[in-house]
Amino acid sequence: MPKALPSPIILAIDTSCDDTSAAVVQGVTVRSNIIASQTQLHKQYGGVFPTVAKQAHKEHIAATVEAALRRGQVEWSDITAVAVTQGPGLAPALEVGINYAKQLAEQYVKPIIPINHIEGHLLSVLAESWPRSKKTTSWNAKIDEVRWPVLAVIISGGHTEFILVFKPGQYQRLGWTLDDAAGEALDKIGRMLGLGYPAGPVIEEFARHGNPLAFPFPLPMTSSGDYNLSYSGLKTFSRNTVETLEAQGALTKEQIYDFCASTQYSIFRHILHKLSKILSNYQDLGEVWVGGGVAANSYLRQALRDSLRVQSRATGSPPIQFRAPYTKRLCMDNAAMIGVVAGSKLLTSNASFERAPRLAIN
Ligand code: KG4
Ligand code: ZN
Repeated sequence: MPKALPSPIILAIDTSCDDTSAAVVQGVTVRSNIIASQTQLHKQYGGVFPTVAKQAHKEHIAATVEAALRRGQVEWSDITAVAVTQGPGLAPALEVGINYAKQLAEQYVKPIIPINHIEGHLLSVLAESWPRSKKTTSWNAKIDEVRWPVLAVIISGGHTEFILVFKPGQYQRLGWTLDDAAGEALDKIGRMLGLGYPAGPVIEEFARHGNPLAFPFPLPMTSSGDYNLSYSGLKTFSRNTVETLEAQGALTKEQIYDFCASTQYSIFRHILHKLSKILSNYQDLGEVWVGGGVAANSYLRQALRDSLRVQSRATGSPPIQFRAPYTKRLCMDNAAMIGVVAGSKLLTSNASFERAPRLAIN
């Protein structure tokens, strides 16, 4: 058999929200993934302030790209293409990454590949670390390894979606949130408790010390026949409960711990409830993936693993494999996931056409 060619090397950029990121990716192997976080800058506003994000991206983008190239041990002559997040995201923030990617592509005469940020979170679970041996994993090898079809659960500050994945590039969205994303709900409830921004990681930490059943949060949308989600009811329950408690005096440490545990439990219970409906109706799924900022949550990962085990025991079907990104850096916004998607696009652009003897221009 002829020796396989090494996978193309991609320089990827993501400036979709409040992190400036650049990465070097080969196949699904992450050679470098630099993230210049703006969290400290936005803390004072309790959320991301778009014009501040834009200015910080402008200040950090050049050094971030340089660091990614250096850490990834590549020269421009090694790079096949530049990939950049096209959207969704904050328009002023996206603009900085796109303009810089265009400038680099022109200067070094490289093709530019626009990438969907959600597809980045989705395929982030397939990324691999760069071993000491410097061996890289190709997209073809990865595609052979996965048990398709897959259900991807994307949970971030901007999105909460169930997506059926037949292979990279072939997707069917089964359900999504009708109002806030799960991360956004965690952040907003965290703000009511004065936990700062972003509140998701703090809620996870505090929840370890609290009782998840202390506050009887409702389970939303149980009678809807679809796979959609809604967090407005949980937010209203939180606001009313916090106001009632505060009327009785300042919240105690124990009350805050209990409230965090109950919030986390109820936000994830809603996702798990819809997931079990999907699993009952799509019994040929080989794997379930979780990606996005909230996928960094260890309690959520364990709850997902447990519910897959329960499901396969109940139906007698073979166990469904669970995958999450290999590092938490791949859960938050980052450019490595954008590079991984770009690698899959190069693969399909080369491989997915047949001869067309009567090819016309239309
Ligand atoms: O993917 P991401 O970095 O940005 C978006 O594209 O939205 O996700 C950020 C969200 C925030 O809402 C943050 O509170 C949440 O992810 N988050 C977490 C954890 N780490 C980050 N939520 C729960 N547990 C965590 N450990
Ligand atoms: Zn994101």
